[in-house]
Parts: sequence; C-alpha cells; structure tokens
Amino acid sequence: MSAGEKPRSGSPGGPSGASADIDAQRGRIDRLDARILKLLNARIAAAVRIGAIKRAQGLDVLDSGREAHVCRRLLDLNRGGLLPGRFLLRIYADLIAASRDVQRTSREIAADAPAARFALLGWPVGHSVSPAMHNAAFAASGYNGVYAAIPVREIRPAVAGLRALGFQGASVTIPHKQSVIECLDEVEQSARRINAVNTIVNVEGRLLGWNTDLSGAVAALTERIPLSGKTAAVLGAGGAARAVAYGVMAEGCRVAIFNRGRQRGAALAAELGSEFRPLSAFRAEEFDLLINTTPVGMAPAVDETPIPAGRLRPGLVVMDIVYNPPRTRLLQEAAAAGCGVIDGLSMFIRQGARQFELWTGLPAPVDIMRMAVEAELRAGA
Ligand SMILES: NC(=O)c1ccc[n+]([C@@H]2O[C@H](COP(=O)([O-])OP(=O)(O)OC[C@H]3O[C@@H](n4cnc5c(N)ncnc54)[C@H](OP(=O)(O)O)[C@@H]3O)[C@@H](O)[C@H]2O)c1
Repeated sequence: MSAGEKPRSGSPGGPSGASADIDAQRGRIDRLDARILKLLNARIAAAVRIGAIKRAQGLDVLDSGREAHVCRRLLDLNRGGLLPGRFLLRIYADLIAASRDVQRTSREIAADAPAARFALLGWPVGHSVSPAMHNAAFAASGYNGVYAAIPVREIRPAVAGLRALGFQGASVTIPHKQSVIECLDEVEQSARRINAVNTIVNVEGRLLGWNTDLSGAVAALTERIPLSGKTAAVLGAGGAARAVAYGVMAEGCRVAIFNRGRQRGAALAAELGSEFRPLSAFRAEEFDLLINTTPVGMAPAVDETPIPAGRLRPGLVVMDIVYNPPRTRLLQEAAAAGCGVIDGLSMFIRQGARQFELWTGLPAPVDIMRMAVEAELRAGA
C-alpha cells in the first residue's frame, strides 16, 4: 500500500480487519471464560466437601495458614506471567471468601450486613499501600470491612466526618499524626507520651487514639533480637524516630540519637534522657543495633544511604524503616558487610497488623498482608 492510500476494507490492519482480529480474540476470551467458570465451580464443589468434613469434625472454617499457603503458591506459579501479582491476590481473595462462605452454615453467614468502614487520613495518600494491605486482611479473615485512602488537608473536619458517618476506625499519617490528638476523646498512654497517633478506633462513638508504629517497630525488632541490655543508634529525630526510640527504650535498650539537624536531634535526645550526636559521628563498634528512621534511600532516591558501607561491621543488626524499596541500599550494603538485616516492611506490616487487631478483635493474617503489600510495591516499581 503506497503512502497516503487508505487501507482497503477487510485488509489486515484495516478497520474491518482490526475488528475481525478483536472479534477473534474476544471469541477466545469467551471460550476461556467458560472453561475458567467450570474450573471455579469445581473448586467451590471441593470447598463444599471440605466444609462438610470440617462441620463433622467440629473444625474452624477459617484456616489462615492454608489461605496464606494458597496465595504464596499461586504467586510463585504466576512468576513471569502476564497477570500482575496484586490482581491475582485480589481475585483469589474473593475466591477464597466464596469458598469460606459455602463452608459455613447459613447461621454463620452475616446476612447482607453493611461493611464496617475504615479510612487512611493524610496528605498525600495517593501512593499508599495501606488500602491493599487492610482490604487483603479483611478478605482473608472473612471480616466484612472496607478501607479507603482519603486525602485530607484539614484533620478536624475529617475526624468529625468519621464520627458522623460511623466509621469504625482510621489510620492517620503525615502531616496529621500530632494535630489529630486534640480531635480525639482519649489517647492511649504510649501514644500520648510520644505525642503522635497513627490509629483511631471508634468504640461506641468514642474515638480512641493509638500509636502502632511503636508496637510495630518493637515487634519487628524483637522477632530477631532481644532488646534488653542492647545499645541502639537511631538515625533521625522525626515522628518515626520518636516512636522507635520510645519503643526500644521501654524494652530496656540504651539509645543514642543521630540526626542531621542539631536542634531537633538534641531536643529528642534530651526528652529521652539519651545522648545526641551528628550523623557523621556514628561508629558501629559502639552499638548492637542501627535503626534508620530517616527517609534517605526511599524511592525514587534509591541510590542514597544514610551511613556509608565502610562504617558498618559484621554482627551489627541493621533495621531500615524505609519500606519502598523493601531492600534499600543501606540494607544491601549491611547484608554484604555481614550484618543482620530487618526491612521496613516488617515494621510496616506489624503496625498494620496491630491496627487490624484493634479494629476487628481478630488475629491479623500477617502473611497475606505482607504478600499484598509486596505485590503492590512491585506494581508501583
Ligand atoms: N516502616 C514503617 O512502618 C514506617 C512507619 C513510619 C514512617 N516510616 C518512614 O520513616 C521515614 C521518616 O518518617 P517521619 O514521619 O519520621 O518523617 P519526619 O518526621 O519528617 O522526620 C524525618 C527525619 O529524617 C531526617 N532527614 C530527612 N531527610 C534527610 C536527609 N536527606 N539526610 C539526613 N537526614 C534526613 C530529618 O532530619 P532533620 O531533623 O535534620 O530534618 C528527620 O530527623 C519515612 O520514610 C517514612 O515513610 C516507616
């Protein structure tokens, strides 16, 4: 076909050729859907049989370990596939919920109860992975809840809105973790001490404030290293540093604050009764633990690191609370230097798990939550 010549009707690439190609692919999709539907129903039939056995044996319908295993296996099987992992997890969250439903007796199925609502309040919140994490946790636990990120410039009317609309709870993030306190009815002791709330729980109309960054950081650390009698260098003196430093000190760990700005660093150190030093004064030999709470190394600036590799030593345990990317340059260099490493996802998932438990009273499906966040981060990478 010469330049400027219109494609003939019916020729490949011409308008009707293109629509024939689309029709052919749609026909293929329709045939695949019919096969998928048969397989889905066969899967549900197997779940019905399992349900009968569980009822006869008096076993729980919910088996979080099995559900996490199914999701992990599918993500592995799908490696290299065209279907993004986060969509695979969403599809299977619904399929697993359907399997659970058919296993339950009608008495156990909540009859069309409205979903409990939860929000993330912050500015900005567009790239947050919290909705993926909490919605996956609700689905995996059979809890009828929905969680949405809401960009909020002013916290006071947003909290009034939560009350008026009967939200069951919320996460609070930058820049509202301090200012939200005066909008609440009660604040839990450690959140009050660090003067920051990242979680709201609605208990019969009373809004209670918690800080799960603190418990999340401590849980991520104590899974790997007992804190009592240890010494920790905390890099940073912002909101996260306050939660981490208070948390590890409460576990009997001695803390030194290293910060870029002297004023903020010295003020936090004085409040904690610990010492302040500039970042350049970090010496690995003096510490068991190094905890980065600065955003240095966070995407997109993934080539940055707060401490040069040459200043690390084998045996030091290094935790980076930056979780995007999960393997920061600091953690890569720490692993190469023979340090123990703890990634920021461990803290993020633990703080989210504590929120989930406070809101629902159910044990958090941490494996599923981690898979959902990892899939979301991979999709955004
Ligand atoms: N894994 C989790 O669950 C979790 C939870 C909360 C927060 N985080 C992450 O933690 C990080 C800090 O959050 P935040 O709320 O504490 O922030 P923040 O209140 O703004 O504090 C940031 C701290 O980092 C220091 N800093 C910032 N840029 C720096 C740079 N280029 N070089 C050296 N120091 C620098 C600041 O020092 P100056 O005082 O000198 O400004 C300040 O001490 C963020 O990346 C956040 O995503 C993770």
